[in-house]
Amino acid sequence: MASAEKIGYVLALGSNVGDRHANLQQAIRALGAQTEIVKESRILETWPILIRAQGRFLNQGIYLVTEKQPDELLAITRAVEQQIGRKKRIKNGPREIDIDIIWSSVGRIVSPTLRVPHPFNRAREWVRQIMQELKPDAIDAETGVVWQNITGKSIMNVNDFVKKKAAGEKITVVTCYDYAFARLIARTSLDAILVGDSLGNVIQGNPNTLAVTVDDMIYHARMVRRGAPQAFIVVDMPFMSYQTGVADALRNAGRLIKETGADAVKLEGGENIAPQIRALVESGIPVMGHLGLTPQSVLAFGGYKVQGKSDTASAKILGDAKAIEAAGVFGLVLEMVPVALTAKISQALTVPTIGIGAGDKADGQVLVLNDLLGLDPDFAPRFVRKYADLSGQVFTALENYAADVRQGNFPAEKESFH
Ligand code: KIV
Repeated sequence: MASAEKIGYVLALGSNVGDRHANLQQAIRALGAQTEIVKESRILETWPILIRAQGRFLNQGIYLVTEKQPDELLAITRAVEQQIGRKKRIKNGPREIDIDIIWSSVGRIVSPTLRVPHPFNRAREWVRQIMQELKPDAIDAETGVVWQNITGKSIMNVNDFVKKKAAGEKITVVTCYDYAFARLIARTSLDAILVGDSLGNVIQGNPNTLAVTVDDMIYHARMVRRGAPQAFIVVDMPFMSYQTGVADALRNAGRLIKETGADAVKLEGGENIAPQIRALVESGIPVMGHLGLTPQSVLAFGGYKVQGKSDTASAKILGDAKAIEAAGVFGLVLEMVPVALTAKISQALTVPTIGIGAGDKADGQVLVLNDLLGLDPDFAPRFVRKYADLSGQVFTALENYAADVRQGNFPAEKESFH
């Protein structure tokens, strides 16, 4: 009789209660008794992500092969968790042992009890390290990307920005304004999300960002936080919510942080707003700066133009960058400035520069999500690279739907109830 084909699986184990090393070892022994363990990863110590107020986890991965189908393996992992004495507590709370199937050679698995890959695999740095150690050539079934090509290391807190710059790792940021896209971004290795006041343009359809209110920012940032519960989220302080003084800046930033669950706020301006930045940082609110083409000053600039071209203008922006670093920003956006100025500022500062239209010498990049996805067929500034043509796909999908309805091809039998 021919034996059934073996399936490869990567399992992630975690423990933060009791003797964590012993729990991992006992679980691996028990799994090894029923499957063939090919490789064990090193053990990593990690912070819990959703509920931080609990002990740190020890995590370890194993690559195993077995004839067992995914649901059979799931039953084995549950039995092993019971055997080690896992107690029922709150969701995402402390665990004696937790065993997740994070990858399988059969690809995507969606059943009522099992979902592989785990939707937040790629947003967890330790999962990336485990996959690169155990199965670097494996394809992530969610995105089609080979694990060894995922070089990202997600940002967990404000200190990671400076650490990444010091390590020479580029920082990847994208804007987002709603739950649906936030859920997708949360499943990537991108470092951080900016809920930009560019929503005034791309969501509200205004010619600039000036009409955006604190309430608008709160409305959108809450949706983003719901879709990306683990992401590092920066939220823009809109026009006139901080320029008017320290007291307004504190009150409005306090609302933005308290009512949205964001991790930081972003303010546009240099030395002129250093008192506001200092006051926010001293009250415990991380601040990102924004220099160069600051869109809230578009009326004063007389349009969206490259800034810092003359020696005087360039020296002013460099001086502003130093001033806001001294006031306490953990990073700053540089928008539409010449490459040489970006290089000079990036060299002069310890905190990272995040460029948009600022060339390749910035410590990271940010793009407006709608621009990089090609959602607006009529908007193509020089500094944007369109990584998709979603507007074309949207047109085609809508025309196909309309044609199907008109021709009686939608809904079909399988899309109807009886
Ligand atoms: O509002 C925004 O989207 C921004 C980016 C352009 C950096 O500030």
